[in-house]
Formats: sequence, C-alpha cells, structure tokens
Amino acid sequence: MIAHGYAEDTLLQVLDVRKSFSSGNRRIEVLKGIDLSIRSGMLTMLRGRSGSGKTTLLNLLGGLDKPSSGEVSFRGRPLHAWNDKQLTIVRRKEIGFIFQSFALLPLLTAWENVELSLRMAGVPRTEWKERTSRCLDLVGLTRRAHHRPFELSGGEQQRVAIAKAIAHRPLLLLADEPTAELDSVMAARIVAVFRDIIESERIAICMTTHDSTLWEAADVVYRMADGRITEE
Ligand SMILES: Nc1ncnc2c1ncn2[C@@H]1O[C@H](COP(=O)(O)OP(=O)(O)OP(=O)(O)O)[C@@H](O)[C@H]1O
Ligand SMILES: [Mg+2]
Repeated sequence: MIAHGYAEDTLLQVLDVRKSFSSGNRRIEVLKGIDLSIRSGMLTMLRGRSGSGKTTLLNLLGGLDKPSSGEVSFRGRPLHAWNDKQLTIVRRKEIGFIFQSFALLPLLTAWENVELSLRMAGVPRTEWKERTSRCLDLVGLTRRAHHRPFELSGGEQQRVAIAKAIAHRPLLLLADEPTAELDSVMAARIVAVFRDIIESERIAICMTTHDSTLWEAADVVYRMADGRITEE
C-alpha cells in the first residue's frame, strides 16, 4: 500500500510505530517499527507472548498513549499528533475500550452501566432507553439488565462491559484480553458476540488474546515478537 493512501474501509493505519520506555537510566524499546491496518467489518486479533507489547500497541491504537515515533492515523486523522483534548473527544465518541478488569461501576446495574457511556458520549437522553436495551440484547443479557455486577458471573460481567463499550456506536472497539478470565465456553461465546456486533454494527474490533482456540474466529491475526509484528 502507498504510505499515505487509505483503502476505503481502513479505519486505522499504523506506520513504522516505535515505542520505548525509560526505566531508571535504561531505555526499553518495546515496539521497533510496527505497521498494520485495521479495517471496518473485521475482527483483528493480536497474539504474542507476555511482554511482547500487545497492550502497549493497543493503547497507541486507541490514543491512550503516544508512539515515540511513527504514525497512527484514525480515519485519516493523525492521532499521534493530537493533543489530549482532541484525543479525549475521539475516545469518547468513536472508540470503545474493554480492559481486562471489567471496569464496571459496582453500584450501578448492568442497565445503568451501559447508560453511563451514552451520557459520557453526549448521546441525547431520548435515545438512551432504546440503545441500552439494544446493546444488552446484543450480548444476551436482557434478563439480567437490572442486576449489579456482583450478582453476575464473570462472563456476564464481561458481556456488560462489551455492551457498555459499544453503546455509543464507536467505529472501533479495542479489547485487551477480554476472555482471559473466562472458561473456554464463555470465551468462545464472547468471540461469537463480537462477530454478531461486527455484522450488525459494521464496526472494527481489535482484541488481544493468548488463547489459540480463538484465533480461527479472526479475520486477521497479527503475531507480535521482539518488538515486531507479522500478519499470519
Ligand atoms: N509504562 C511502562 N514503563 C516501562 N515499561 C513498560 C511500560 N509499559 C509496558 N512496559 C514494558 O513493555 C513491555 C511490553 O508490555 P505490554 O504490557 O505491552 O505486554 P503484553 O504483550 O501486553 O503482555 P501481557 O500478555 O502479559 O499482557 C514489557 O516488558 C513491559 O514491562
Ligand atoms: Mg497485556
């Protein structure tokens, strides 16, 4: 692909991204020139050993952190060059995140947790009810909508986290080890939910996982090792 040409469905384009961290007087180079693209309507998975830089890369993809050098373009716009205020707006409106710890608010019900992201994204109040209901339905939790997180299983909590992350209709959903704490049946179910969401909402999902049984459900798998990435 030409460096600055964007295929029509390319949502995120990463070009020669490097990232190093300093600890004491040492610098650790975690990413040593990463190129990848994330396309709409696709499930992309990042695999690689612990410490290979998956979370570091995911944070750059979502504008949570900046590369030391290189470019991260989201819909042709340069995230790597944006200030915090601009990044916050994109993150709130166009990107959804699922972190390994579910990040649900414990005192709010599943319904209220989902509604909160609509409020945060500035979605008009008149749309909250329908959208919340739809997202809980998408993850199969309609009947558990009025339960609080501690009354839900790990898999159910993770599904609330998914509903919460997609409520504001992001174009991109980033999920860091979303199935790490689940058994294999629930992990496969979460991936099936991702496929359904991609079908019905036409978004891009990028997740990290160690679980080899899930890779076949991906459209694209990237493997990270030694600071570099290869498409499989
Ligand atoms: N803020 C930081 N400061 C210093 N080093 C960091 C920082 N964040 C990550 N690292 C280092 O970068 C490397 C990659 O970390 P990262 O969390 O991206 O790995 P990972 O592939 O997500 O691993 P895991 O599978 O265990 O989640 C590690 O060696 C880690 O110690
Ligand atoms: Mg990680």
